[in-house]
Amino acid sequence: MKESSLKAILNDLTLKEKIGQLIQLSGEFFGDAEVSTGPAAKLGINPEMIAYVGSVLNVSGSQKTKEIQNRYLEKSRHKIPLLFMGDVVYGYRTVLPIPLGQGATWNPELIKKGYQVISKEASKAGLHVTFAPMVDLVRDPRWGRCLESNGEDTYLNSVYAKAMVEGFQGNLGEGALASCVKHFAAYGAVEGGRDYNTVDMSERRLRQDYLPSYQAAVDAGAELVMTSFNTVDGIPATANQWLLKDLLRQEWGFDGVIITDYAAIQELIAHGVARDEKQASQLAIEASVDIDMKTACYANQLAPLVENGKISEKLIDEAVWRILKLKNKLGLFENPYRFADDEEEQFMHTAENQKQALEVARQSLVLLKNENHILPLNPNKQTIALIGPYVDSKSIIGLWAIHGKDENITSIKEAVEKRQLPQVSFANGCDFLEDYRTLGSFGELVSGGKVNTPESIARDLQEAINLANQSDVVVLALGEHTLQSGEAGSRANLTLPELQLRLLDEIAKLGKPIVLVLFNGRPLVLTDIEPKVDAIIEAWFPGSEGGDAIVDVLTGVYNPSGRLSMSFPYHVGQIPIYYNYFNTGRPVKTSTHSDRFMSKYLDIPNDPLYPFGYGLSYSIFKYSNLRLSSSTMSNTKPITIWIDVENTSDIKGMETVQLYIRDIVGSVVRPVKELKDFQKVVLEPKQKKTVSFTLSESQLRFFTKNMDFAFEEGQFEIYVGHSSEENLKESFELIRS
Ligand code: NOJ
Repeated sequence: MKESSLKAILNDLTLKEKIGQLIQLSGEFFGDAEVSTGPAAKLGINPEMIAYVGSVLNVSGSQKTKEIQNRYLEKSRHKIPLLFMGDVVYGYRTVLPIPLGQGATWNPELIKKGYQVISKEASKAGLHVTFAPMVDLVRDPRWGRCLESNGEDTYLNSVYAKAMVEGFQGNLGEGALASCVKHFAAYGAVEGGRDYNTVDMSERRLRQDYLPSYQAAVDAGAELVMTSFNTVDGIPATANQWLLKDLLRQEWGFDGVIITDYAAIQELIAHGVARDEKQASQLAIEASVDIDMKTACYANQLAPLVENGKISEKLIDEAVWRILKLKNKLGLFENPYRFADDEEEQFMHTAENQKQALEVARQSLVLLKNENHILPLNPNKQTIALIGPYVDSKSIIGLWAIHGKDENITSIKEAVEKRQLPQVSFANGCDFLEDYRTLGSFGELVSGGKVNTPESIARDLQEAINLANQSDVVVLALGEHTLQSGEAGSRANLTLPELQLRLLDEIAKLGKPIVLVLFNGRPLVLTDIEPKVDAIIEAWFPGSEGGDAIVDVLTGVYNPSGRLSMSFPYHVGQIPIYYNYFNTGRPVKTSTHSDRFMSKYLDIPNDPLYPFGYGLSYSIFKYSNLRLSSSTMSNTKPITIWIDVENTSDIKGMETVQLYIRDIVGSVVRPVKELKDFQKVVLEPKQKKTVSFTLSESQLRFFTKNMDFAFEEGQFEIYVGHSSEENLKESFELIRS
């Protein structure tokens, strides 16, 4: 539709019709009844407003969305189509590994292709907008939503944010979804890792570390932004004019739609910045929040606010205009169903989609330990006992893959059987949890609050011990229950559930080699577990093709290449823990102060168990010969960095070569290391390659003492190698030319 026609529609809308565009409700409001009075009464929304509502939350399926759209349009004076939005966070029917696992691929190109798969499927199911990517930087594994993040690094997260938005949106043509980046801003920094909690940090840290990934998504063209639940400098994001207007809209030039997170306008009252829904609505609209997700605030309060002269109708017009523009950009006025296809099933989980998801899953697996090269296993020569609740489980897609279906998910056992591997036997070993009541109301929901009896626990354990005793090697598939991470999945204890630890201990007593395959939505503390096993594969929640990917790695069909994008703590007491920390005045590694008076704990080390960037391979990579084109860089003259990487093993493998810098002296403190670039190289047995990077002044800028984003002259160290900890070092000087 031409912009002039769209403007004409806007000009002809009544105030109520306009406000309707700013409301988003869930499917229950769009039933067959003329007015869904039941849900409306529950929400406290004026039922008359429901006929005007502009968007729908989490309804999908071609027929369903079309029916709702048809019914709605019949009554719509201006035939303004509904927008269908939903949480298609990392998969629709084909499910990728959780984003933290995707982070471990260090392969944004691959991830981009994966997101194309997701949007192709979801758009056939009638969705127009996805509430993704979630690009919150995370440094606290107690927070269950680490699952949805790519990890702890600003640069890596920004690269992924761009890839994901591009993957979802393309040019918004066939098979694309509009992308809503979330949760703006800094939701990953909730205090104590407790979900929905307060965030408070300096503007410098916010800009330097937390904001770049959102900005990368906005720069990549994300059409929408979702506000976060938390405060930013004392003001909840949803009411934060500095954050949404000054920074996002003015400084970054974002002219798209801002939507709240679920009920966030109403929550302004509980936060204590609004005394009632009226004030909450005023704060949100004045902060340029366009869509109210799932509350009665805008629906009931905006009209009286305008009528009483508290807010100008212009604010509402601006918000409606942004929403209408999005609907028009998506072509909904011409085709309100967009790509909804009644034959949608044939596009779901196709062989091609499975192939993409399998490759992401394979590359997401991180080999954390491989003592005496116990992996890969050879089922032709070894008898293998596969034991644990995750061996035959389809609960391997994580909490936010709400459209995944069991029939599309391959468990480890199914993958083994598909390959007809000889000499592999299976046992459950134990349930995920002894007592499902520990999951609260969700435990009731998934299992009726099941409590395993001592007898059934003993029986399962004995069966596992018998099987292990008859086998050469034991593979234990253990992990968090899928409901222990994800939204509202904060935990203070980051180990495996007690029942599974008992199984592990009993099996360890048998003296058989043990390979541990771990399923989890966050870094766990593996300090006590690690010495009891010979190998560890971190499988995250690996998605619909997870079983296949794991068996490929266990048997050496795929040589693991994943690298951690989030540190694994040695102890919960170290949290927040991240590789790019500040040195402090008393750094434990180099301080000249006497032992006690350094920045450290008396009872645990400072270092994580597994650092950022870490991960093993069946190959062995040797680094040598780090060299720079010059020991001086200027703002007009970048430097080139070379390093030789050799695969000294007999197995072809993929290595991720990582480049870090350290700015030794700045007008403000700079981190001990910062990732600046990385490259993946595939090396044949005994092959050696020279990898080169170009580093320029623009990569060395930061928020200086005066909050300018600029470089400062001086000495830099450069680290290139296998992880944030294992690397070779050189140095150069940056000068102004
Ligand atoms: C709340 C979550 O925080 C957000 O990520 C999600 O998109 C919305 N609910 C909608 O389901």
